[in-house]
Amino acid sequence: MSSLRNIGSLAGLALGVSAVAMGAHASEPTAPPVPPQFPAEGKIKHVSRDSILEFKALPEYHEPEWVTTKFVSAGKLPPVKDRLPKEPLVFKTDNMPDGIGVYGDALRHVIGGRPEGWNYGAGQTQGWGGIDIGLSECLTRTAPLFQVEAKDTEPLPNLAKGWEWSADGHKLTMHLIENAKWSDGDPFDADDLMFYWEDEVIDPNVSPLGGGASPEAFGTGTTLRKIDAYTVEWTFKEAFPKQYLYTMAYPNFCPGPSHILKPQHPKYSKNTYEQFKNAFPPEFLNMPVMGAWVPVEYRPDDIIVMRRNPYYWKVDEKGNQLPYLNELHYKLSTWADRDVQAVAGSADFSNLEQPENFVASLKRAAEKTAPARLAFGPRLIGYNLRMNLSGNGWGRPDARGQAIRELNRNEDFRKAITMAIDRKAIGDSLVKGPFTAIYPGGISSGTSFYDRNSTVYYPYDLEGAKARLAKVGLKDTDGDGILNFPSGTAGGKNLEIVLLVNNGYATDKSLAEGVIGQMEKAGIKVILNALDGPKRDDAHYSGRFDWLIQRSTPELASVVQNTEQLAPVGPRTSWHHRAGEDGSVDLLPYEKELVSLIAKFQTSQNNDERVSLMKQYQKAATQHVDTVGLTEYPGALIINKRFSNVPQGTPIFMFNWAEDSVIRERLWVAAESQGKYELFPEQLPGKPGDKGPTN
Ligand code: GLA
Ligand code: CA
Repeated sequence: MSSLRNIGSLAGLALGVSAVAMGAHASEPTAPPVPPQFPAEGKIKHVSRDSILEFKALPEYHEPEWVTTKFVSAGKLPPVKDRLPKEPLVFKTDNMPDGIGVYGDALRHVIGGRPEGWNYGAGQTQGWGGIDIGLSECLTRTAPLFQVEAKDTEPLPNLAKGWEWSADGHKLTMHLIENAKWSDGDPFDADDLMFYWEDEVIDPNVSPLGGGASPEAFGTGTTLRKIDAYTVEWTFKEAFPKQYLYTMAYPNFCPGPSHILKPQHPKYSKNTYEQFKNAFPPEFLNMPVMGAWVPVEYRPDDIIVMRRNPYYWKVDEKGNQLPYLNELHYKLSTWADRDVQAVAGSADFSNLEQPENFVASLKRAAEKTAPARLAFGPRLIGYNLRMNLSGNGWGRPDARGQAIRELNRNEDFRKAITMAIDRKAIGDSLVKGPFTAIYPGGISSGTSFYDRNSTVYYPYDLEGAKARLAKVGLKDTDGDGILNFPSGTAGGKNLEIVLLVNNGYATDKSLAEGVIGQMEKAGIKVILNALDGPKRDDAHYSGRFDWLIQRSTPELASVVQNTEQLAPVGPRTSWHHRAGEDGSVDLLPYEKELVSLIAKFQTSQNNDERVSLMKQYQKAATQHVDTVGLTEYPGALIINKRFSNVPQGTPIFMFNWAEDSVIRERLWVAAESQGKYELFPEQLPGKPGDKGPTN
């Protein structure tokens, strides 16, 4: 069909056509060049926000037959109606691309990460690739908003089934799903929220996953209190800060099971914070979750298997308890292998995001016999070089590190670096063809808030860059080709900058090599510090870096999700400028402007004003080189053809990753297409800590 034809012609483009040469190397800042045309295949079908789901009781409920016969009839599990909340979340049939589904089969993921443990609230990663996204259910949900008309976007209800604002806009009352249960049958209620808020978010010794869930993400001075088992009340300093409804989505407000976590927390036990964090290693199976599947099997460097949560609180309009799929796999391999296996059909899902794999994947997907569909979306994957802007001790730099911080804080230096980067060459080194675009930094060109004319681009100009470096006082005093610090700084030694990179992705490393080579031409020695995921993140969040390379994050791709990360609005909200030892952030003048623009954006009720504020943000951020953009390109969702209910045009990354945007609990496989992939057929999760599933 037409999408296949597009893939064929795209493959042709990628292989045969070299992109049009870019304009001259003017040294005056300008708008970025218009990106090469890219025939995005996945046309999103836009819907109204209230057409997706609702909360209501249905006359009857159903579950897979084997659950009834093997578990309910045998007295091992209460009947399905008693396991569901009073008013379950109901996905509306009209919003399902292929309608109500049937039970069975497994979704086979492949990931490049490895699980640290299940203590998400204490900051442990589970290996990414959709694991934590699937285990965690959050107060609100934003991933499916990619399909909602822009004028209508507000986060969807989830664990919070509804909310209302007080007349003065300072209080928000939230109503939780009533009588829902964790996957082990324990009640879910406001105590779970209060434990998360008081003992994880607010407790400075605990930092929940992502490094971002700090109290300031919900506004300075914000408080939360329990009204009753299913009602909580937020109090905000500002009036109607509706923007925080986005912060209450993944990854910032997804509470864990307090009945399991609380007894291990130092406040309620003899544990240290480190012992608390590590109390639930990957071997601790059947960790209670609110998500649709529960981890029941873990084999190091091999696989994590999850089985359906018998207490899951979402249903379809016929009352079928979700999920439709009985099992989820996460093969523990590499990110590159995820693309290869998804295209080959030995796995089911990949976010094709590493351009090095584009051409081969496109060729295979274009064949008639291809087991998987592949569809590109908007240009929302971008990479930035971020310079550590803390001059007051974040990450405790030594004298050399401190001297680099001073340079990073010098606007002429940042401009010199951005001018020394040949973005055309960087893009082409990843993949030839119409994929990559010149990206100066700032918000992504694929978002609705992007305005090209508010984006300041310093074109590639090596001589201009060198002149600026000289202006900053950097000269090669010993004639070895590497610029030296001025004699009064860092002993006048050669300037050496350490670049932190994620070792798990070919793209991150290719980009780092590109940067190293280009900096060398400008006389700057950059040394690679490539670390595995968790170590890299740890170095990042604790500020131990001069420069780092980072793939785009939701605030750049959607603007409204994680907006606080666009500027240092709090001590720990920015990716490259957090508080020093004394708890303060030493803001540069342009950062003060960014902070005030973001603060206004967070509380503005007026859409035109928000659009204008974001233009001003983009202008200030790119003009003062808040980040050094490297490249930007579209990603493609690869998903096996046997799955139904995959929303058309699902972007691999917008408000969240595609693993969430496809709404996995609603995916199904027609009976005749079901594979024999379930490793634990007709089994359910066991008790917390049990060695495996139960039957
Ligand atoms: C990793 C992968 C992404 C996505 C996310 C989900 O970062 O690279 O494609 O799967 O995990 O968290
Ligand atoms: Ca030198």
